[in-house]
Amino acid sequence: MIKYYYFNQIKNNIFIAILQPLSVNHVFMKAIFPKGILFCFIFLISYSASAQNKSERDLTLIDKDWRFSFGHLFDTGKDFGHATGYFSYLTKTGFGDGPASSNFDDRAWRKLDLPHDWAVEQSFSEKASFSHGFKTAGKGFPEKSIGWYRKKISIPESDKSKIISLKFDGVFRNSKVFFNGYFLGTEESGYNSFEYDVTAYVNYGGENTIVVRVDASMEEGWFYEGAGIYRHVYLKKTNPLHVAQNGTYVTSEIKENKAEVSAEVTIENKGNYKGAIEIIQTILDAQGKQITTVSENGTAPNFYQTTNYTSKLTVNNPLLWDIENPNLYRLITEIKQEGKIIDRYETSFGIRTIKFDAEKGFFLNGKSVKLKGTNNHQDHAGIGTALPDELQYFRIKKLKEMGSNAYRCSHHPPTQELLEACDKLGMLVIDETRLMGINDYHLNDLERMIKRDRNHPSIFCWSVGNEEWNIEGNITGERITNVMQEFTKGIDATRPVTVGISSGFKSGISSVVEIMGYNYMGNGDIDAHRNQFKQQPGMGTEEGSTFATRGVYFTDDAKHYQSAYDKKPRPSFFSIEEGWKFYAERPYLAGMFIWTGFDYRGEPTPYGWPSVTSYFGMMDVCGFPKDNVFYLKSWWGTEPVLHIMPHWNWSTGKEIDVWVHSNCDEVELFLNKESLGKKKMEQNGHLEWKVKYIPGTLEAVGYKNGKKVLSDIQKTTENAQNIKLSVDKENISNANVVVITAETTDEKGAHVPTANHEMTFSIKGGKILGVGNGNPTSLERDKFIDNIELLAITNFEEKKLASANISNQITVEADNNWKEAFKDRDYKNQAPAYVYRGKFDLKNNIKTNTVTFFYKKIGINAVVFVNGNKIPASTDDDQKYILNAAVLKQGLNTIQIIAPPLQKNKDWDVMNTDPGIIQVITPAEQWKRKLFNGYAQIIIQKDENAAEVILSATAKGLKTGTITVK
Ligand code: GAL
Repeated sequence: MIKYYYFNQIKNNIFIAILQPLSVNHVFMKAIFPKGILFCFIFLISYSASAQNKSERDLTLIDKDWRFSFGHLFDTGKDFGHATGYFSYLTKTGFGDGPASSNFDDRAWRKLDLPHDWAVEQSFSEKASFSHGFKTAGKGFPEKSIGWYRKKISIPESDKSKIISLKFDGVFRNSKVFFNGYFLGTEESGYNSFEYDVTAYVNYGGENTIVVRVDASMEEGWFYEGAGIYRHVYLKKTNPLHVAQNGTYVTSEIKENKAEVSAEVTIENKGNYKGAIEIIQTILDAQGKQITTVSENGTAPNFYQTTNYTSKLTVNNPLLWDIENPNLYRLITEIKQEGKIIDRYETSFGIRTIKFDAEKGFFLNGKSVKLKGTNNHQDHAGIGTALPDELQYFRIKKLKEMGSNAYRCSHHPPTQELLEACDKLGMLVIDETRLMGINDYHLNDLERMIKRDRNHPSIFCWSVGNEEWNIEGNITGERITNVMQEFTKGIDATRPVTVGISSGFKSGISSVVEIMGYNYMGNGDIDAHRNQFKQQPGMGTEEGSTFATRGVYFTDDAKHYQSAYDKKPRPSFFSIEEGWKFYAERPYLAGMFIWTGFDYRGEPTPYGWPSVTSYFGMMDVCGFPKDNVFYLKSWWGTEPVLHIMPHWNWSTGKEIDVWVHSNCDEVELFLNKESLGKKKMEQNGHLEWKVKYIPGTLEAVGYKNGKKVLSDIQKTTENAQNIKLSVDKENISNANVVVITAETTDEKGAHVPTANHEMTFSIKGGKILGVGNGNPTSLERDKFIDNIELLAITNFEEKKLASANISNQITVEADNNWKEAFKDRDYKNQAPAYVYRGKFDLKNNIKTNTVTFFYKKIGINAVVFVNGNKIPASTDDDQKYILNAAVLKQGLNTIQIIAPPLQKNKDWDVMNTDPGIIQVITPAEQWKRKLFNGYAQIIIQKDENAAEVILSATAKGLKTGTITVK
């Protein structure tokens, strides 16, 4: 029953009805392996129905309906007065102040759903961080570096016997979490997952407030990192006696046709139960069929203690996990107390063997596998780091389609859903921690990463660092690596450890690390290192760093465009082809990881502003392929490939380099049916022709064993006429989030590769999450969202009134006897009523803005006037006043509140003196994006109850395009 709610959110209603009792694993199984669905469901339903019990754990996704506002890095006033109280949250428990307090009024804050990355929503500026993609957030932008999130949840009385926790999958960064005003802790890392037990603070049967203050003012990486709660948040409920957080560890040993599975569970007791317990461990296959089960008798751990139990189970003729057949099993761990199941915990795992051999490279299940890997950061076009789960699958599928079989999480622990996608789709993973060191900051992060991730069969190697230039080649690096490596083995001895090293192969880290991680051939003599360290296996943890712009075939430094032909990026670096040939020819090297699979924000080397994304990717930030993808597909993949570049829209007479990527034996090139010669393809190579351009058809024909097997064509196109919208084929069917490609076609329906039209989008039945086009120099917006401005009421003054009958009062214009509101108020001798007045400054008074006064009670009841007009309270909230453009003016506006005063009950009562806030919402512009060399991408999300989403695109001079996604 894990992630129920989540499932509800991503599936349509019919499926919900059938699938409600199932775990999310099954959901994705279905999404990814649509065949045999029914078969799989029948088993699942039968298992789940018997195994389910209300008293077990419950994990509910709470991504929806948060309130958000920026605070301020050092101006406490703009940070809502947080941490300024006489007593604050570090002086007295429960004294969270400002927005951290439960009763803070956040009605004027923006409403949003997680995952959320506020950095991607900002504009670009040359003053912003080069490494982070020049977004005006975080470092150097104090007013865009603190984000406050607030959410209310109700917890019923019936949960009184439960342990209630909040589970955060990742927040960038330095987050402080409060619950009902109680400070729960600080998580510095922007990449760790963390949980807080809130049981002691719960308001049962009522409302509870979760508050997160996120401080993204400091960078952890030298690449785009986003800002905010960019991964999922869950509410977790368990029995006091339960499987601890990340509390299972499944390993297996294969002996002949059997897998001996060792299932270790950590049981935690946060209750008073002291007696016997039973631990039942059951293995289910992918169809939910029980394979084997064992039960152990034990004793409940002492109060707030944990105990580990290990069960041995046997799987006969196991279906091994590998890249082609990512077979998974599930371990169901149940705890029984007094005959009743009180916890049920699921662990997805795979059975497989891994081995590095210093002579022969890497082996998966005893078979040699050359690692054809890519490095990647976690951001995507339009959405930054806030990836919906579907995008993880989209990206891993794109990499697999390129022939890649391995992924390095550079340079930090990834989100869970990425690892789930790799497990389910068959992608090997290097999981990497952020910072090298031997103190708690470093080792605690490392431990948490390993404990969280060690059941994923896709992970074949832990990386404890990358390019630590200060220590790479020296004794400090050696010492640190020795500690981190041994420390890692103590938590998971089944996987080796690597470090990506870029300087000083031979000494320091590289002399002691278990698996040598070579970052770039150009950084040292790999063969020489290997000759000195013959027992040390190695792999290229980074190679490439080549520059290419999708769809560009002539480098134009003025425009910051790099041609897409594979080439050395810098004199001491190597092209993709040179890199792959080097690794392919050396069996002792386990393989290589290209820097990078996808472009990412930041590091726009070899340029700078106004380039905002990298040029390194085999694909652009959207996942549109650059031509190198076809080189890799030819030599990494298993299918016949023939790809001809560039497009065929040039000016007559221009000399064009025509390249063909293919794994055919020979390729012949034709221009307007005339042969330009047949060439033999060298292993791991490509073919080149120089061709004087004339319009028409350029055709490559590929031969295998002398027989024509493939052809690829580039045709001169006419002017763009139509807009074509299509669903990317790597989408999961039935997904809630869908990736749409926009392009133009000519009158014959041919894709126009040079089109750069600006398109405007409108949507029904869903919303757009982000837009992109892969142009590294595009400073267009990624997101079009309403702008919310909060205006303080200034110059707040008061005057006494003689009567408490406020309905008879009218706005007071006379300008005498006003004094600062609430100053030296004698609460024992208050006037029957007061009239207050203040100002707020409107930059404009655009009719399409929505201006609302969120009043905070400063009197028993109140009448509100703005510029002399009496304003009725809103029907949904009697402390909310909507201010129409007709009563407002540009510049200073006057607000008056007439109210009988609140009376103190006790002398020490602190009375509210804040009248509230004016919220100005400026509606977002319509979504738009230019095509870049033929393509743009729109990421859309279906509304929960909509049957279909309709997206339309318009552009000047083109016929409108529409797509309906069911
Ligand atoms: C490497 C580094 C990567 C990236 C790359 C760009 O040195 O490990 O994170 O910065 O260079 O070429």
